[in-house]
Amino acid sequence: MPHPHVLLSAAVSLDGYLDDTGPDRLLLSSPADFDRVDEVRASVDAILIGAGTIRADNPRLLVNSEARRAARVAAGKPPYPLKVTVSGSGELDPAANFWHTGGEKVVYTTDKGADRARELGLAAEVVALGPALDWRRLLEHLHAVHGVERLMVEGGGRIHTQLLQQGLADEVQLVLAPLFVGDPEAPRLFGPGGYQGGRLRLVETRRIEDVVLMRYEPTAPGTGPTPAAADHHWLALACRLAAQCPPSRTAFSVGAVVVAADGTELARGHSRESGDPVVHAEEAALAKIASDDPRLPSATVYTSLEPCTHRASRPAPCARLILDAGVRRVVTAWREPDTFVTGADGTGLLTGQGVDVVVLTDHEDEAKAPNRHLL
Ligand SMILES: NC(=O)c1ccc[n+]([C@@H]2O[C@H](COP(=O)([O-])OP(=O)(O)OC[C@H]3O[C@@H](n4cnc5c(N)ncnc54)[C@H](OP(=O)(O)O)[C@@H]3O)[C@@H](O)[C@H]2O)c1
Repeated sequence: MPHPHVLLSAAVSLDGYLDDTGPDRLLLSSPADFDRVDEVRASVDAILIGAGTIRADNPRLLVNSEARRAARVAAGKPPYPLKVTVSGSGELDPAANFWHTGGEKVVYTTDKGADRARELGLAAEVVALGPALDWRRLLEHLHAVHGVERLMVEGGGRIHTQLLQQGLADEVQLVLAPLFVGDPEAPRLFGPGGYQGGRLRLVETRRIEDVVLMRYEPTAPGTGPTPAAADHHWLALACRLAAQCPPSRTAFSVGAVVVAADGTELARGHSRESGDPVVHAEEAALAKIASDDPRLPSATVYTSLEPCTHRASRPAPCARLILDAGVRRVVTAWREPDTFVTGADGTGLLTGQGVDVVVLTDHEDEAKAPNRHLL
């Protein structure tokens, strides 16, 4: 089920705190950065915060610029994004600013929390997600029922920590403020627990008055059949590689990337690369990795078209090469049509051998784009 693009947004002190322990909210951003946050809010369909942030800060979460609200309306959107909160207990103050400003509101909670939230008469739709809060179900619901394509998450720390640890964050927008908090009781941005092993991708740095904005993308593939946000980024790269293939009337244009479990790119390839008129994308990528590389069994192969099962030009089709390399996970955008081989089923062949194959059909159009003339 599709999810919205999830963007985590936060400001931290130099020693990594989100706030101090005083009664008032600690202002970490600069005025120009608050305006940037307003711009990001205006660009999304929904903004989410945790119940802890409602209790601590009593925020309004508005788009403050009249011009930005007018632009949203001109684009056929409501003036304010949907406001979303998450609470296990349902114990939320009905008088909080959150409920009485801006547009529509939704509370995601547990079955028990929903009873309490309804008892309190909160001015919001209350959605029970079962005995415990399931973040994937929450994101699916936001997308399917509220049409949310882009979700901005504005904290607090417990919310950011879970979304990042569960591989559900597409992007982190982090502002570093030049001050210290120095109080171990203050809330931190990210709590302890299991994060991805390797490095995130730094996609932007920007100085804004005396703060610095850093934008990162998580890189670690999902595990097994469960897709992670980073799977979409890598598959999109495979689709861009497909567009670089020398054109052909007799073969598909395909891109492939092999990524280690910690998010390190091991190799990439595309059809007919380096002057080889018959090389396939997965074949080209795998050929660049030593066959005894210990990262292969836990790696993921991303390929814009599912791996082939029949080949006239070479002894082994790509599905066989993937099995021989020991790779146990493949993410693809597009099942092979009958254009050249009838009934090709790379996905079936691989899953029959215990490989997890994840088909992310929301990238199918990108994968098909360089192959339109063949379809
Ligand atoms: N600097 C910044 O950019 C920034 C941004 C936002 C917030 N903050 C600061 O962050 C602090 C608040 O952070 P926080 O970590 O205490 O609170 P939080 O993350 O805003 O909210 C935590 C609450 O959300 C609910 N929740 C979260 N995950 C849940 C789950 N899996 N199941 C059920 N309920 C769940 C629970 O609500 P219930 O208790 O109702 O069950 C939990 O107490 C404040 O000091 C605030 O100023 C700073």
